[in-house]
Amino acid sequence: MTLHAEKIWICSVCGYEHRGDTPPDYCPSCGADRSEFKLGGDDANGGKPETEADWQDVGAADELSSQPLRQIDVGGTAIALVCKDGQFSAISGVCNHVGGPLGLGRLDNDHVVCPWHNWKFHCRSGEGGCDCEHDSVPTHAVKVEDGRVWVDMAEATPRKRGNRPPHPLTKITMRGQPGGALMSDPVRVVGISTTIMDVLNPRYSTSDKLLNVALARAREQGAETRLIRLADLKFRACEGYYSKSSRACIWPCSITQMDPDDQMDRVYEAFVQWGDIVLVATPIRWGQASSLYYKMVERMNCIQNQETIANRHLLRTKVVGLIITGGQDNVQGVAGQMLTFFGELGCQFPQYPFIAHTRGWSAEDMENNVHYVEASKDLHAAAAGLLDRCLDTCKALFGVEIGKGQLPRGGRKAHELDVRAKL
Ligand code: FES
Repeated sequence: MTLHAEKIWICSVCGYEHRGDTPPDYCPSCGADRSEFKLGGDDANGGKPETEADWQDVGAADELSSQPLRQIDVGGTAIALVCKDGQFSAISGVCNHVGGPLGLGRLDNDHVVCPWHNWKFHCRSGEGGCDCEHDSVPTHAVKVEDGRVWVDMAEATPRKRGNRPPHPLTKITMRGQPGGALMSDPVRVVGISTTIMDVLNPRYSTSDKLLNVALARAREQGAETRLIRLADLKFRACEGYYSKSSRACIWPCSITQMDPDDQMDRVYEAFVQWGDIVLVATPIRWGQASSLYYKMVERMNCIQNQETIANRHLLRTKVVGLIITGGQDNVQGVAGQMLTFFGELGCQFPQYPFIAHTRGWSAEDMENNVHYVEASKDLHAAAAGLLDRCLDTCKALFGVEIGKGQLPRGGRKAHELDVRAKL
């Protein structure tokens, strides 16, 4: 009887090992796609010993020396080819972090800087710089003969990964599952205020008032609450990593992973990990939600991109309710944008998912408006009612399996055409 040896596929991005005849569609650890998996173990290199030289002609020296750094593909392997002070060197073109194309980055003295999140690797030794000093990428020998550049595809030095613990936000635990809250624990309600104000000289905010009424109602109902005021936090705006490459947008956000002073992690932790219900409150500014709201949601794009890039649903039974107030109008526009955004993150909504109050285009009596919101029994009852509906929806979803498996791509982001015109 012949024993069928199990193949080992290794994700070149994060080192995850998959056993089976074929690689998985996506890396369950980092979301890299199938093409990043290489055969490991005895199957690697097609059975060739790693030390056997495999010189490949990669092009004319004259042409290749015209650029200090370039990414080249040699038989399916990405190489970052450097030409510095007339000397060629080559390192792997795949960054240790999440697989960025090193050869498309830039040269900073002797270091190749990854174009995705700026990790640096020495152009000759492959050793990592400040963000990754315990890492290194493989190096390859290079020679020039008769005006041609040759790269030895056998790795001269191996890839090494520093022993970094995963970011605390990496793991998503659902209520009732190991590591998550118990089913019997109190419901957790997060309030997010997106109102902008000078925190040292605070002013009255109508949306904050109704948010606080709703949170007080939650406590009355036995829930635990947290209030996050974006105005109190220091966090960077999204810097467009997704625009470099969809896979450059990672969870948790690369800024959160790179910048210990960035406080968006508090929003992520409360919104993605801790809360069962999230109430988002915003004023209306020129017919839109506040600019702080947009700053927050741009940073939340990484949650949706996990769906797009890795078929990973971070949110499944998260219930979201909205509180919208303003001197100006356009409640439908503001609510429509917010419902679309949180719906696209995979959130659930209660029946009648928002409450709103405005004075309209022509009203300028804001003193009266402040007095009205502070005293109105109807608006306070509305805020409590929104919370009650969120709570009912949340409890109805306890223990319900939603969003397992891969989302069909048709009509969704990252939908590739399965039918093409014959021209
Ligand atoms: S992929 Fe290279 S720094 Fe993130």
